[in-house]
Parts: sequence; structure tokens; C-alpha cells
Amino acid sequence: MGQHRQVLLEHIKQPDQHTLSGYESRGGYAAIRKSLGMDPIAVIDEVKKSAIRGRGGAGFPAGQKWSFVPRNSGKPTYIICNADESEPGTFKDRLLLERNPHAIIEGMMVAAWAIQSHWMCVYIRGEYAYPYAQLKKAVDECYAKGYLGDNIFGSGYSLNLVIHRGAGAYICGEETGLIESLEGKKGQPRLKPPYFPATLGLYYSPTVLNNVETYAAVPWIMNNGGDAYAAIGTEKSKGTKLVSVSGHVNKPGVYEIEMGYPFMRFLEEECGGVRNGRKLKAVIPGGSSMPVLRAEDVVDATMDYEGWVKLGSLLGSGGVIIMDDSVDMVDAILNLAHFYAHESCGQCTPCREGGHWAEKILQRMSRGEALPGDLELLETICNQIQGHTICALGDSIAMPVRSFITKFKDEFRQRILESLQGTVIRGEPLNASFGAHH
Ligand SMILES: Cc1cc2nc3c(=O)[nH]c(=O)nc-3n(C[C@H](O)[C@H](O)[C@H](O)COP(=O)(O)O)c2cc1C
Ligand code: SF4
Repeated sequence: MGQHRQVLLEHIKQPDQHTLSGYESRGGYAAIRKSLGMDPIAVIDEVKKSAIRGRGGAGFPAGQKWSFVPRNSGKPTYIICNADESEPGTFKDRLLLERNPHAIIEGMMVAAWAIQSHWMCVYIRGEYAYPYAQLKKAVDECYAKGYLGDNIFGSGYSLNLVIHRGAGAYICGEETGLIESLEGKKGQPRLKPPYFPATLGLYYSPTVLNNVETYAAVPWIMNNGGDAYAAIGTEKSKGTKLVSVSGHVNKPGVYEIEMGYPFMRFLEEECGGVRNGRKLKAVIPGGSSMPVLRAEDVVDATMDYEGWVKLGSLLGSGGVIIMDDSVDMVDAILNLAHFYAHESCGQCTPCREGGHWAEKILQRMSRGEALPGDLELLETICNQIQGHTICALGDSIAMPVRSFITKFKDEFRQRILESLQGTVIRGEPLNASFGAHH
């Protein structure tokens, strides 16, 4: 795994790391013990010092989010862990859930103490059967040992954790959709503002909702100090990041990198380069809802929030998808458009209708039946969707479609030309691992 500092995966290969005894033998549950002896505000300050940004995609600073929770609102407060991980190309949380579940639980405990919450919930993707089993065992162990329940660690503080399994909707990964689903309703996102979870979250009560990876980093931050965490990475992107690598690469998998690491070095030295000696054609750096980049765009790329933004994409959830020169870009974006159109919750017309229109146009392009104005039509549809919807799933349709047709315009134009001539020559089918999430 290279020469990176390991905050999250240091002990991941230890066969008993998922057990309470294994986790504790390597310093586990020291962070919550320490936190329980601290003023909750001081705990938030420590996390703020680390400058860790949420690892679920949006990158909002976690300490700041925790500090938004009103004190003494008279309502209960909640801690939610987002383990819905359903973005095609993203499978980093799965590793933590399977191999290091106690780190997630401990990070949630610290957050609970920080906002004085007594109720925690992990919302886990329904298809994650094994990760669920591992997490469940870890939670049961905590209850059996008095680490969860009444009077945790003999502190007089009570703290409970519920695991809730999703039912297969990608939109339940969006934080307010998740909250609706948890309340027993359809997973349809709420408008922000006013429904920011920190003030109006679960049951319209103050709620801290973070990603699995965000919580899993918290014990390290509390044990080593926020400054030590902030010393890793770049000026604006602190710490380490889990990256799940898939597609046409020799060594796909989950890697922990220090923020700011050069992308090409990572691809060549750690992931073993592009498979079968083929040429790199394109990279999606942050999960499939993020804009695609051409091989020539990523030559000097660094893997951090600002690094990818500079190139016109985003770090997102860290799902790096590698495409070699065999990929037919029309088919690739059709695959993604199908996924996002299918996962629309249907509340907003631009997302509900526009997603399917985009998919239909791409379908006819793929079949060799493209029409002369199709690229302009796709562009118009993307413009109508982006920024005009309740949640960011609309953007997840518009951003990839726009980036594919912009970055690989010649290929799309060629397809239209061949359609008109009736001579479509299709590329090789996509690798099965690409989009295998659904
Ligand atoms: C359509 C959609 C799907 C999402 N899916 C996930 C997900 O599976 N896991 C996740 O942690 N965040 C997901 N997010 C982001 C969450 O809304 C939220 O920003 C995040 O969980 C907050 O945690 P963080 O601050 O620790 O990143 C999704 C967002 C959108 C718009
Ligand atoms: S953007 Fe799409 S998924 Fe999000 S609320 Fe609107 S219809 Fe639902």
C-alpha cells in the first residue's frame, strides 16, 4: 500500500481487527475514554483542528458541522452514520465495515459525546450482507461489554446504537433522503434550506450525519491530536483518503493515500498501471457522478479536493474509475445515465424526466440511430437539470453526461456521422467491473 501514513488501514490486515479484543489490543476505545473525560466543546475543537472534511462526497468540514448542532434545544439529538455506499465505483466504506467496524463505532461515540447525543444509527446499504454481519457482531460485543447501553465505560453516560438496513435505493445515501427513509417514509430528499440535518434532521431534531470513513478517522484524531492529523496532506486537504480503484487497472482495490499524492505515480506504482499494457483513455476521479477527465488532463493531477477541482472534476467519494483505450464512451455514459435515471426519486421534473430523456438519446446513439442535433439536445437537457433540483442527484446526471460529450466530442460526433451513414462501428464492451454495482 505504498509509503503513505495509515490512519484508517494501519491494522486492516490483522485477522482479528474486526473483533473487540483485536481492536482494543491495538489501542481501540482509548479515544472515547479520553473524550468522555473532556468537555464536549473541547472534543469538537480537536476535530475542528484536524480540519477533516467529510468523506462521503461533499467535503464539508466535520468539526464545523458538529458545532452547528444547537445546545439545549430541548429536543433529543442524533448521530447517524451514512453507510449506504451505492455510488458506482465506490467501495471503500465496505472495507472498513468488514474489517474495522469498531473504529466506526468509536468515532460515532466520540461524535455523540461531542453533541451530547444518546442515540446513534448506522444506515447501511441493504445489499451489504457481510458488512452488516460484521458490524452487527461488533455492536453486540459493545453492548455485552458495557461499551454501549447504560453507563458506558462506567461514565454514567448512556448511548445506544441501532443498525438500519436500506432496501436498495441509491437516493437513500443522500442525507435527507436517508433521514426520511429512517423515519419509515419514502427516501425522498428534503429541501435545504431549511432542512439541514444539524438543526432539522431525524424527527426534525438536531442530527449529525457523517460518512463511515469520516467517523473511522475520529479515533486517530482524538488519540494523536487534531494538529497531527492536519500535518498530513496539503494546505487545504488534510489527512488521508481512502480511494477505491476499479476498471482497467492491474491492481484494483482500496488504497489509503495522503491527500495531495500525484495521481500518475499512484496509478503506475501502486495500482500497477493500466491493464494488459493498454493506453489510459479516461479517468473518473471521485465516483461515477463526477465529471470524467481525459488521460492528457491527469498527467500532473494531485489527489486532493483542490487538485481535481483545478482540472474540472471532483474528489467526491474517492471512487477512481480507470478506462483504457478500448472503452466506447457512448456506451460508458449510457451505462451511467441508465443508473442515475433509474435511481431518481421522482420528486423533481428535471431529474425525473430529463434523466430518462438523456438515457433515451444515448441509447439511440449506442444503437447507431443518432440524430444530427443530439449533442445539442443533450447539452440543453443537462442545462435544464443542473442546479434546478431538490438534491444533487440531478447534477449526478448532468455532470457526467456533459463532461463525456465535451471531453470526447469527436467520438460522439463520429457516432452521429456513422449513424447517418448507417456504418456504426462499436468499441469493445465495457469491462464487467465497470458499473457492476447495480
Ligand atoms: C444522490 C446522493 C447520494 C449520496 N450517497 C452517499 C452515500 O452513499 N454515502 C455517503 O456517505 N454520502 C452520500 N451522499 C452524501 C450525503 O448526502 C452527505 O453529504 C454525507 O453522507 C455527509 O457525510 P460527510 O460529511 O462525512 O461526507 C450522497 C449524496 C447524494 C446527493
Ligand atoms: S434531484 Fe432527483 S433524486 Fe433528488 S429530489 Fe429531485 S427527483 Fe429526487
